[in-house]
Amino acid sequence: MSNPAILYQLPLTGEQQGDAIGSHHDGMHFFPMEGTDPYEGSSTDGLLVMNHEYVEPRYMHIAAIGQELSRSAFPTYVDGETVRRVADEVLTEMNGHGVSIVRVQQQVNGDWAVVADSRNRRVTALTPMEIRGPVRGTDFVKTKYSPDGTMTRGTINNCAHGVTPWNTYLTCEENWAGYFRNRDNSGDDQPREHQRYGVRAGVSRYGWDLADVDPESNQEAYARFNAAPVGASATEDYRNEPNTFGWVVEIDPFSPESTPVKRTYLGRFAHEGVVFQPPVEGQPIVLYSGDDARNEYIYKFVSAQPYFRATAGGHLLDSGTLYVAKFNDDGTGEWLPLAWGQGLLQPQPINQGEESDCTCFQSQADVLVNTRLAADRVGATTMDRPEWGAVDPNTRRVYFTLTNNTARTEDQVDAANPRPNNRWGQIIRWQEAGNDPAGTAFEWDIFILAGPMDDSEFNGQPLDEDQIFNSPDGLWIDFDSRIWIQTDISESVMNVGDWAQFGNNQMLACDPFNKELRRFLTGPLGQEITGVITTPDQQTMFINVQHPGATISPADFGSGAIAGKGNWPLGGSNYARSATVVITKDEGGVIGS
Ligand code: FEO
Ligand code: CA
Ligand code: CA
Ligand code: CA
Repeated sequence: MSNPAILYQLPLTGEQQGDAIGSHHDGMHFFPMEGTDPYEGSSTDGLLVMNHEYVEPRYMHIAAIGQELSRSAFPTYVDGETVRRVADEVLTEMNGHGVSIVRVQQQVNGDWAVVADSRNRRVTALTPMEIRGPVRGTDFVKTKYSPDGTMTRGTINNCAHGVTPWNTYLTCEENWAGYFRNRDNSGDDQPREHQRYGVRAGVSRYGWDLADVDPESNQEAYARFNAAPVGASATEDYRNEPNTFGWVVEIDPFSPESTPVKRTYLGRFAHEGVVFQPPVEGQPIVLYSGDDARNEYIYKFVSAQPYFRATAGGHLLDSGTLYVAKFNDDGTGEWLPLAWGQGLLQPQPINQGEESDCTCFQSQADVLVNTRLAADRVGATTMDRPEWGAVDPNTRRVYFTLTNNTARTEDQVDAANPRPNNRWGQIIRWQEAGNDPAGTAFEWDIFILAGPMDDSEFNGQPLDEDQIFNSPDGLWIDFDSRIWIQTDISESVMNVGDWAQFGNNQMLACDPFNKELRRFLTGPLGQEITGVITTPDQQTMFINVQHPGATISPADFGSGAIAGKGNWPLGGSNYARSATVVITKDEGGVIGS
């Protein structure tokens, strides 16, 4: 699918990219055009809203042509002793990030097209955003751009998403930390709110701070990715810029002039996505979010205020309790509150001998900026890289993909994360005790242990050759409780060694009632399948193919020998591009039925 307003030839200038669909499509939702309910309304006309997780610079710039660049490399040049980047290339990359909102309509011939609409919009790494919740206005987020700590610019590395019951879109900042650098010789003297998240000590992921921007123009929008304390105080530099990332961002797709809001009560970590329990009139809103990094955690937020459809809005996300999950080996689980002043989350050491290295917190904002440290402190269960979650709308049971975790050691194995050097991943699920989503107890089990035929299990049986998969990532449960599973085998091992038996990344469907699990589709070379939603009538499904072309070697990229090696969808001598795929049944009908 392409936008007729943005049919540029690649490569794009920075300005053109700001008007075009972004790179590396990920989580997405189809909002029916009526604009009242995220799952009810038109099945032929709506706003498709999608994340753009990251960029592959070699496919974006004229200067890359002929260079032997890897999938993560970017063009640079040397100015005297200094490595620099061309500012407009950096702008193209910043504008390739973020979120796209595009009106899509089914045409008379059945095809779908993007159509012009005043709501079509790009949100990028430069879009002004408001900070809400307990961190708003605190010293953690005061910068030269926003001395009162209420605003920041942009959202980056938006992986999966969420859909609120009040018909807005949530985009989740995942691997944002690597976009920053701070204290170049060693990360050891970084503040804990940088170090615990992996802010880099050397060159940042794309070197955006190296841009050769005209000092008279918007130089600080680029320089802010170097978070070194170069000014006299925090309001004279960008030492706190990384603290304005790692959040869930709310966007109202039906209000093109609205300012996106970073909702800080949902915690700061490598947010994969957000999933809600179905709302109940007069009860709290409950949602779940995973931190996709090795040995990180799964969280739940319960709003302080009850949900009423007539008055519901983003304010419900600004007060409540953030919990982190503890999975006991006996199949029970507990939600541990990350509430400042309760339990171990205290401003002073509470155990003897702890004075020298106390993980102490001075406020709820401190707990939230340092969510990972707070979760460490309360003794949550470290997980095998939590990716997407999904809630069965009919049973309220919650499912989460745990994609893999090769860092788990023999000593760290537990019942929920049962394999050391976990190369294959699993899908875990739980039911809240008494089916009360706001409670603090649950019962869990492993739904599918992914992997090859000799190291997997589903419904008491190993997966067969038509079912095997690994590295589950995308997950969605449709209105009939069908479970849609998408895989993300890393491009570094795809079709290599023990991973070769799984082939390319794929999508499976599972019927939880008759325990049927079947491969639904297999994607092209190099990509992952990610993002899935249907229209309300379930007769049209949208999925994303992300990063085709990632397995093209630097040598092949440099020589231009890319044909047939993963340059989907255009083939020939064209560069690969992420794209949205529309799926319908030949005779019509519910997808998966
Ligand atoms: Fe961006 Fe955890 O996948
Ligand atoms: Ca993902
Ligand atoms: Ca990926
Ligand atoms: Ca992944």
